[in-house]
This record gives sequence, structure tokens and C-alpha cells, in this order.
Amino acid sequence: MTWLALAYSSTATQPMSAVEIGQLLLKARMFNASVGVSGVLLHDSRQFLQYLEGPPDAVERVWQRVSASPRHQQLTVLMREPTETRLFADWQMGCLEAPASLLQRLANEQWRIAMAVAERRQPLSPALALLRQFAQGVQREALGKNSGSPLIL
Ligand SMILES: Cc1cc2nc3c(=O)[nH]c(=O)nc-3n(C[C@H](O)[C@H](O)[C@H](O)COP(=O)(O)O)c2cc1C
Repeated sequence: MTWLALAYSSTATQPMSAVEIGQLLLKARMFNASVGVSGVLLHDSRQFLQYLEGPPDAVERVWQRVSASPRHQQLTVLMREPTETRLFADWQMGCLEAPASLLQRLANEQWRIAMAVAERRQPLSPALALLRQFAQGVQREALGKNSGSPLIL
């Protein structure tokens, strides 16, 4: 199965409170789940960086909704690529608070995976490796503290 992966960065039109982000996520997760899209949203309440993966049509539909939102601006697509691997299959749009420095670094990293056509296993691009390392670190921390699902962070 070939999935589509899409990553973008954006800037909040106005800084969003935890409550506002929670409300946004509620709708986002409902829609994403209904079309089979998973991923992760990193933010520092001002900057966003989101990674979406799933069936190509479904990712495009989510992207339509994302890009139509007046909540953010300066949307920059960092990556839009077919992939054989879902990196966040268990994450029904995880949401993680991240330091501004990490968001900056991710926005400037290399996202594209050089597609090895004959090879099924693709290596992770530097940006994807960094994103996954951060997400897994937060997840482990949350589980260690036994504070419940990392998806509600
Ligand atoms: C940073 C950010 C991330 C978003 N991520 C998603 C998403 O993953 N899935 C989705 O359906 N909509 C996403 N949206 C779009 C809004 O959630 C969408 O406008 C909302 O679900 C529909 O809201 P409305 O009923 O207020 O129009 C995102 C918006 C922003 C600003």
C-alpha cells in the first residue's frame, strides 16, 4: 500500500490557548479518524508543524480543511510524498507542545526522502528522524509518569 505523507509549517493568526487548541483537535481527530489519517501536530501556541499520513485522497481532504482554516497563515508545505511506511499509525493526530527551537529546526530540515524505487524500506529523512525521535521521547516520558494517553498531551 502506498500512503501519502504531507508536512507543513504555519503561524497562528493569533496565539491560541490550550483550550482553543483542544477544541480544534477534537474536530480534527474526528474528521481524520473518519478518513483514516494519522499524524502529529507540534506547536508552541504560535507556530505549528503538522505531519499527516494516510490514503492519498484522505490526506488531500484533510489538507483542504487545514489550508482553509483562518486560524493560521504562512502555510509552507515541507513535504508531500508517497510513502510505504506509516510512522504515526497509532497516533490519531497526537498533539505535542514543542520548544520554538525545535519547530524552527524542523522547518529548516530536509524532509524529502530520496525514493529508492527498487527498495521497499525507505530510510527516514533527517526531519522525519528528528520528528519521530521527539514524539517517541515525549510518549515515553508520559508513559513513565503514568499520566495517561500521550495523544491527549
Ligand atoms: C494548526 C491546525 C491544524 C489542523 N489540523 C486539522 C486536521 O488534522 N484535520 C482536520 O480535519 N482539520 C484540521 N484543521 C482545520 C480545522 O480543524 C478545521 O477548520 C475544523 O476541523 C473545522 O472547523 P469549523 O467547523 O470551525 O470550520 C487544522 C487547523 C489548524 C489551524
